[in-house]
Amino acid sequence: MSSNPQTRRVLSGMRPTGPLHLGNYHGALRNWVDLQYQYQCYFFVADWHMLTTGYEDTGHLPEYVNAVLVDWLAAGLNPGVATLFVQSQVPEHAELFLLLSMMTPLGWLERVPSYKDQQAELKEKDLATYGFLGYPLLQSADILLYRADFVPVGEDQVAHVEITREIARRFNHLYGREPDFEQKAEAAVKSLGGRNSTLYRQLRRKYQEAGDAEALERARALVQSNNRITVADRERLLGYLLGSGVSILSEPQVLLTATPRVPGLDGRKMSKSYGNTIGMREDPDAVAQKLRTMQTDPARVRRTDPGDPDKCPVWDLHKIYSDEATQRWANEGCRSAGIGCLDCKKPVIEKVVEEVRVWRRRGQEFEDNPELLRSIVAEGAEKAREAARATLDDVRRAMRLRA
Ligand code: TRP
Ligand code: SF4
Repeated sequence: MSSNPQTRRVLSGMRPTGPLHLGNYHGALRNWVDLQYQYQCYFFVADWHMLTTGYEDTGHLPEYVNAVLVDWLAAGLNPGVATLFVQSQVPEHAELFLLLSMMTPLGWLERVPSYKDQQAELKEKDLATYGFLGYPLLQSADILLYRADFVPVGEDQVAHVEITREIARRFNHLYGREPDFEQKAEAAVKSLGGRNSTLYRQLRRKYQEAGDAEALERARALVQSNNRITVADRERLLGYLLGSGVSILSEPQVLLTATPRVPGLDGRKMSKSYGNTIGMREDPDAVAQKLRTMQTDPARVRRTDPGDPDKCPVWDLHKIYSDEATQRWANEGCRSAGIGCLDCKKPVIEKVVEEVRVWRRRGQEFEDNPELLRSIVAEGAEKAREAARATLDDVRRAMRLRA
């Protein structure tokens, strides 16, 4: 990892579930738009992941992939700074997935919480498939292929990043060494000289057997301060302390972002599967109408009944869209029955409609010009493949496959 933020890499993906809604925007996309100016970003549409649950009906796939791409661009993802691509256009993902599958213990995949949860949730589908079990491993390949430092995802994806780290560690342990690493490392220990060799061995044992972090630090200092050994031996001695060799795949970190709760029209979390969404580029009149009939505090039956904003999904929208003064007005007006729900919704409706209009205008350019969209995505795939190939070359070489 470099300390220059612009050289740190961020990677994230989204399944093409269809046109994106406000929940997708505030839950992920808005954050991506900010990140693209702080890091080297790779964002992709995970169409292969869609097949893990939706393998029977793939008819909508091309349309959904396109809708997501246009929504991204409409939201402000900038293909001039971020690399935007479609997973299936970068076959390197499949190759790394295959190679990693050889060394991934079945138990690791079976223990990922989403595996059993999703099977139980989507009972109508047969998810006892090889592809579905492999979902987190395909995601690991997505991440490791770009040597991503950070993966911005929601709480539900943390376990997938965790297994990615374990797989990187296992890969490095298995293949990250020279064929004769052990002998060379032992020879390097001897070359430290009598007392220092003994001390190195003691400290290494303390760290490896008891996890003694201080011993690790002392051993590192011992190696680093010795200027009689070669650079190669120094690297070996440092790697030998951890028990592994050279690191080939890097361990990513989750970038958990605070995202607001985006309520759907019925008050539950906004989600396509609940049918309670507002689309990013829906018709503005339809959006306004949906908001006018949106669920409010159920206890506020008559106009004269005071309400409780904390029990009202419209209040969650105020927290996203309204300035402080408007929020205070809504909060006080609700509790004192000074305003009606329709009054309360008005400023929210204005803001949402305004936002939707901007997205529609920006999206239209790409809807009108499919060739422009195609070229953006083709260029993204080319850039992605360049980074992916570099990693795969290292992986193939480490596994003694023809590079
Ligand atoms: N599983 C992710 C989701 O459903 C999508 C995804 C696929 C992803 N590959 C990824 C996210 C790699 C981050 C990194 O939201
Ligand atoms: Fe909700 Fe506003 Fe109605 Fe109160 S006044 S219940 S916050 S919509």
